[in-house]
Amino acid sequence: MEDTFDYPYCDDVEKYDKICRIGKGTFGEVFRAKHKETRKEVALKKILMDNEQEGFPITAIREIKLLRSYKDENVVNLIEVCRSTPEVNGKAISYLVFDFCHHDLAGLIQEAHDKIKSIPNIKCIVKQLLEGLHKLHTNRIIHRDMKSSNILITKDGELKIADFGLARPYSLDAKNRKYTNRVVTLWYRPPELLLGERNYACAVDIWGVGCIMSELFTKEPLMKGSTEQHQLQLIADNIGPISPEVWPRVVDLPLYHKLSNVINNGKQRKLLLLKIKRCTSNEYALDLLKKLLILDPSKRIDANSALDHDFFWDERDPQPAEKRALARSLSSISQSQFEYTARHRRIQNPGPNTNNFVAQQMVNRGNNHRHLGHRPGPSNNDGQYRDHVY
Ligand SMILES: Nc1ncnc2c1ncn2[C@@H]1O[C@H](COP(=O)(O)OP(=O)(O)OP(=O)(O)O)[C@@H](O)[C@H]1O
Ligand SMILES: [Mg+2]
Repeated sequence: MEDTFDYPYCDDVEKYDKICRIGKGTFGEVFRAKHKETRKEVALKKILMDNEQEGFPITAIREIKLLRSYKDENVVNLIEVCRSTPEVNGKAISYLVFDFCHHDLAGLIQEAHDKIKSIPNIKCIVKQLLEGLHKLHTNRIIHRDMKSSNILITKDGELKIADFGLARPYSLDAKNRKYTNRVVTLWYRPPELLLGERNYACAVDIWGVGCIMSELFTKEPLMKGSTEQHQLQLIADNIGPISPEVWPRVVDLPLYHKLSNVINNGKQRKLLLLKIKRCTSNEYALDLLKKLLILDPSKRIDANSALDHDFFWDERDPQPAEKRALARSLSSISQSQFEYTARHRRIQNPGPNTNNFVAQQMVNRGNNHRHLGHRPGPSNNDGQYRDHVY
């Protein structure tokens, strides 16, 4: 007998007009859309089922479960879940419907860096990011996918943390934590996860804030590794050698002994300092960055203490911009900026000095960027990324 579904609690997505595609990840495709009657703008995240052999994706279930109950001004608002008109087999496609935000931070950094790179604007952005994370962490939620493309900025200068597909509650009892270390997109992944730690919590998100803050100054992701080992090498080069002197418990991590010659080559290159000093002479910024990117997660600053840092408070320094001042800086940007659209614009208009080979590299870079994370690729069905400890 053929199954029939009537979806009594899910509206038909036909009530929205799709305008254009603004994102495509491993699990979803995101469209800008408008409600047919109210004309309210939304983002529709289509749940891709192509790679799923176990039914509705766990990442989508996580995101819906969490965002239905967690509402905050610094977290993207999930309005509802819609469905397409059921197809011949009786099945429908599901869509998460969000309030639309005009930009993501990766798009802004790549395409409109000059509009956001002032010290007051960077302070305004990092402060809102830390405020959003502090509230999440206080509510015992870890995001586990901090990166600039998951940070949205509205035209009113408000920051919203997005993409809760990997987020999870964490246990206060550290003995009970045995989570997967296969989370966080590679370039933003902290050293403890790369070395196999499974007993972790909020500090993994703080590392990501450090990477994002550095990117705000330099316009480039801080450490663009191509493999996990390469990422660890870049961490040692940029931050400093990973050794028991700076991080006593590192010797207990599963991969430490295997990789100790890679991560502790004795060279103090500290490339982070050089890169940041080329872009700013702000000593507070440098000090906060160093604290966000401390190798030992138990010494890394937490969101609450980071919000107390002089970078945000010292009166001799420019104060964080008000959201409406950030909004004014953004108002002259003619179109929405997203990581996805920025990447495609660069591929289509590679610039006068770029040949086809370089354009192809850009395509690869985009794909790599996504696949280097521990989001599963089509052939990765080993389930290791799935986190069954709730
Ligand atoms: N509410 C929104 N408003 C505007 N743009 C959004 C919104 N939600 C998501 N986007 C855009 O869509 C992109 C992908 O969304 P999201 O990160 O939620 O999906 P994903 O499939 O989990 O992505 P990935 O695998 O690339 O991390 C975001 O990077 C952002 O550019
Ligand atoms: Mg994302």
